[in-house]
Amino acid sequence: MAKSNDNGFHSITWEDDHLRVIDQTFLPSREIYTNLNTTGQVWEAIKNMKVRGAPAIGIAAAYGLYLGARDIRESGFESFYLEIERLKEYLESSRPTAVNLQWALNRIMTTIQAHKEKEISELKDIILQTAQTIHDEDERLCKSIGENGLEIVPDEAHILTHCNTGALATSKFGTAFSVIWHAHRENKVKTVWVDETRPLLQGARLTAWELKKEEIPFKLITDSTAGFLMQQGLVDLVIVGADRIAANGDTANKIGTYNLAVLANAHDIPFYVAAPYSTIDLSIENGEAIPIEERDTAEVTKIGSKEIAPAKIEVYNPAFDVTPQHLITGFITDNGLIRPDYKKNLGNFSSREVSMKK
Ligand code: MRU
Repeated sequence: MAKSNDNGFHSITWEDDHLRVIDQTFLPSREIYTNLNTTGQVWEAIKNMKVRGAPAIGIAAAYGLYLGARDIRESGFESFYLEIERLKEYLESSRPTAVNLQWALNRIMTTIQAHKEKEISELKDIILQTAQTIHDEDERLCKSIGENGLEIVPDEAHILTHCNTGALATSKFGTAFSVIWHAHRENKVKTVWVDETRPLLQGARLTAWELKKEEIPFKLITDSTAGFLMQQGLVDLVIVGADRIAANGDTANKIGTYNLAVLANAHDIPFYVAAPYSTIDLSIENGEAIPIEERDTAEVTKIGSKEIAPAKIEVYNPAFDVTPQHLITGFITDNGLIRPDYKKNLGNFSSREVSMKK
């Protein structure tokens, strides 16, 4: 089923027998779609960030599992399941931080186990149906996040956001972006401050592209401009997305998120995290246990294809950081706003949904 945004672009589409994704590495200069026919191609697309953003990589990985499952020749359940586990581990090795990827695959594993008496061909259909359910559900979750976030956006709001949390990063609407999108529809947004989000420029390349398409007023800033804006009283609130939220509320998100949270705290500005329940990982007690992906040094030494640093230097490139829960004003979720005590309130919220247990 094709899913388009109001402006007509499709970030992820299942087309009869393959996955079609917008290749985010070409944006904003070119809108190129690529077909993914195998688990390996999905792995590569996630690893190299053709598909990126926590919910989107969960959706893509779910379809990726089906693309591998359909070629399994085993006829007995146990051997079929072993092969599926192998594919799952492989897909999980693509990117470690966003829990949505593991969550989507675990959900499929649980569903397969619940239907173990079925024929293998039926199990393959069930895997595809579950991937489609995850895909469709994400759209509803993102819409609810946007609607639920309206109450924390003041009139004439100046909102600062980080990285890309829009329709590119999800099935539709986005997470933090969905709040902005819904607030704009209610005429509540004066402007959105979009930071570049070095090193891969998801803010400049992707969020600016989406905001422009949606005709939402925004200004692009460098990452280092945020403190100055806050000092001048030009930011009413910060809304970011999340890649993994630990049971106590500590939140992993794109590198630089922690800087913004500290700055917001110092200036008494509300700092919100918008995420669906699939981003909450109750199996992890606090942020210390969240795996932080380290990426290629070339992402730092180059902008696009241009070298910006001397050759043969040491570089450290963590893709995410962890914002401690005490810096977070609240979580905007598909089930409403969550305020502290996070340990208690996140647990109540997340446990109502599909079990996260492996
Ligand atoms: O490395 P990326 O671009 O996949 O990182 C994305 C983020 O950090 C987003 O803020 C997060 O996944 C939430 S997207 C709705």
